[in-house]
Amino acid sequence: MASLLTRTKSIDRLMADSGASGESGLKRTLGAWSLVGLGIGAIIGAGLFVRTAAAIAERAGPSVTLAFIVAGIGCAFAGLCYAEFASMIPIAGSAYTYSYTTMGELVAWIIGWDLVLEYAVGAATVAIAWSQYLNNLLGILGVSPVPYQWSHSAFEVSASGVHGLMNLPAVFILGVLSLVLVRGTQESALLNGIIVITKVCIVLMVIAIGWGFIVPANHVPYIPEPSTFTTAQGVTHAYGGIMGVLGAAGVVFFAYIGFDAVSTAAQEAKNPSRDMPIGILGSLVICTILYVLFAHVLSGVASVEFFRGAGGEASVAKAIETYFIGYGWLAKFVTVAILAGFSSVILVMLLGQSRVFYSMSRDGLVPKIFSDTHPKYRTPWKSNLLFFCFTSLFAGFLPDSIVGEMTSIGTLFAFILVCIGILILRSKRPELERAFRVPAVNIVAPLGVITCGAMIYGLGWTNWVRLAVWLAIGLVIYFAYSQKHSLLNKG
Ligand code: ALA
Repeated sequence: MASLLTRTKSIDRLMADSGASGESGLKRTLGAWSLVGLGIGAIIGAGLFVRTAAAIAERAGPSVTLAFIVAGIGCAFAGLCYAEFASMIPIAGSAYTYSYTTMGELVAWIIGWDLVLEYAVGAATVAIAWSQYLNNLLGILGVSPVPYQWSHSAFEVSASGVHGLMNLPAVFILGVLSLVLVRGTQESALLNGIIVITKVCIVLMVIAIGWGFIVPANHVPYIPEPSTFTTAQGVTHAYGGIMGVLGAAGVVFFAYIGFDAVSTAAQEAKNPSRDMPIGILGSLVICTILYVLFAHVLSGVASVEFFRGAGGEASVAKAIETYFIGYGWLAKFVTVAILAGFSSVILVMLLGQSRVFYSMSRDGLVPKIFSDTHPKYRTPWKSNLLFFCFTSLFAGFLPDSIVGEMTSIGTLFAFILVCIGILILRSKRPELERAFRVPAVNIVAPLGVITCGAMIYGLGWTNWVRLAVWLAIGLVIYFAYSQKHSLLNKG
């Protein structure tokens, strides 16, 4: 039994599988800058344009900037570990594939299952954010918005007492983008390039123009006194103080999710060992600087009360409309650009999801349907359509706070396992060639575990329970199906 759980897939076998994928596999089309673009395309999204305001309102007030720094540091540690893995094991599949070679099949399964929270549930979170900005756009155009009950989950109630039923716009955008993926990634990468530039422009404009509208009083006190906050769903957690910052770090950590999605594209990189570390760390560094400046401006132009009330949805556009006097055009531009930007994030997350399940399916851990490729487009199209159904359940019927925090905690957990994995691999396979090595790995990897663990702690017990339930479901599936169907069973 023990050997069943700890059996590992050898790196040599991994490489052979990947080479063997030749004709039916994925095309190598992405260079280093395409990967940085892919990273930024995946990173800047709902975390910045929706979850930042939630972190200000519910967790940390202006000290959300400190939260971004904590989250950025945690990502840098984990990102370095990811980069070493990616430079050594340039195979599609992300943390799942890496752990299969280091920590055994059971841990690999847990990570692969956990990554569903990162990619699929993450895509659902961004789709909900897309729905908020769509309604803002309809308002700007003078068209009546999608009615509250059809653009919110049953867990939400409007200020006038209307209950949500289902978030239809969120389901709609997931459907459109799933169809784009069925057609293939090359077109998506080109579109992504245009959108990345637009997203970075918005962030720069909000920082540059918004800086002049900062009201110093909004930044006082910078770290609110420790107290509690009760959400619309009745969950009470820490507000202010250190716990507020840690909780906010867990929330805005969402804004960093995606740089590791670059590593899932390793099989499509032209020169994986050189390009992957550049893609992962480059996108991370650029985004961290932008985020801290952006959060400083956002928490400076509007008060915490604003983000608890009128600015609670489509928060950045609402803040611009309300406080950037004379910049009405910016609010319109930002709304349209954010809609496009969110679409690119959803695309990359859905892509990452189908790639992980593609690898798991080729290993026999999930059914073959997830690796069936389309005869003409060579995409895992059945997987794309199944994940459309799955993500729609989350996006259609849950609020962004729940799915957003589930995404964060799931990803943080995966990062911790990656940091541990790199240590194991250094001692188990020291001879393997690594195009990139984590400097001071014995310090960096444990610090990654500690920082990500602190954010998990900050997210609070409701999120711990959700993660535990999700992992328990995964274990049942592993023992009922995956263990028996694993290709390693067949030698
Ligand atoms: N980091 C991505 C976002 O903020 C997931 O939307």
